[in-house]
Amino acid sequence: MASSRSLLLPIGLVLSLLFIDAAISLSLVSSMVAFLHTYGGGPFPIEGPFESTFLLAGEPAHLVVNQGHTTNGANGTVLVLVGFGGCIALWLERRSRRKYDRSSPAFYVWALIVFLSCLLTLTALIYTFVETSKTGSQEIDYSVARATPAPAHYPNDRWTPENWYAAVLELPLVSDDDRRVIQHNLTLMRGWRWNLIPMFLLGFALLSLVVLELLRLRRRSTQKVPMEEVLA
Ligand SMILES: *[C@@H]1O[C@H](CO)[C@@H](O)[C@H](O)[C@H]1NC(C)=O
Repeated sequence: MASSRSLLLPIGLVLSLLFIDAAISLSLVSSMVAFLHTYGGGPFPIEGPFESTFLLAGEPAHLVVNQGHTTNGANGTVLVLVGFGGCIALWLERRSRRKYDRSSPAFYVWALIVFLSCLLTLTALIYTFVETSKTGSQEIDYSVARATPAPAHYPNDRWTPENWYAAVLELPLVSDDDRRVIQHNLTLMRGWRWNLIPMFLLGFALLSLVVLELLRLRRRSTQKVPMEEVLA
């Protein structure tokens, strides 16, 4: 039996949490992009044989970035379409119920957006974890790195930014500052990948509540339950 109480309030609460989480995700991905374009671009001095050093370009020749783009697409969809769109849709829905005693079409359109956004977040989640694990067990070949100093880029393998910088930390970096900055930024990269899990769960929770609310409205329209009881 569907609940006879309106779920608009819990929908609004979960929507707020999802919005905050997507904003965090967006700022983490943005900080990674900023890092790639600045400090992360290197070059980093690496210890060579006989107290020599050589320079490693900050980015490899084959950097995998589409999982980051997909994630930013999911972030943007949540913030703009689900978030701001949701504020408008929920406001219209409340107004329509109060004034005209019926549901507003905007709510149904928004429900579809919530569904598509949840799928997009799931896609970003799977894509990111698959790319990370596919490129995760490889190491930087020291002799290859030494043979291709900056401005050349390390030619072997495909790398996600996270896996690349983790591998860079395995090399004998000359500067402790480099090590520290890379380490911190690496933590942020891991942060946005893992954050995709709560973001998906929140999106799924929101979708479930919206579907329950739609089922409730449907039941009301077929059973002719008095309006005041259902459309609270
Ligand atoms: C990440 O790298 C930037 C340079 O691009 C640096 O300013 C910043 O402090 C680093 N972040 C952390 C958390 O250390």
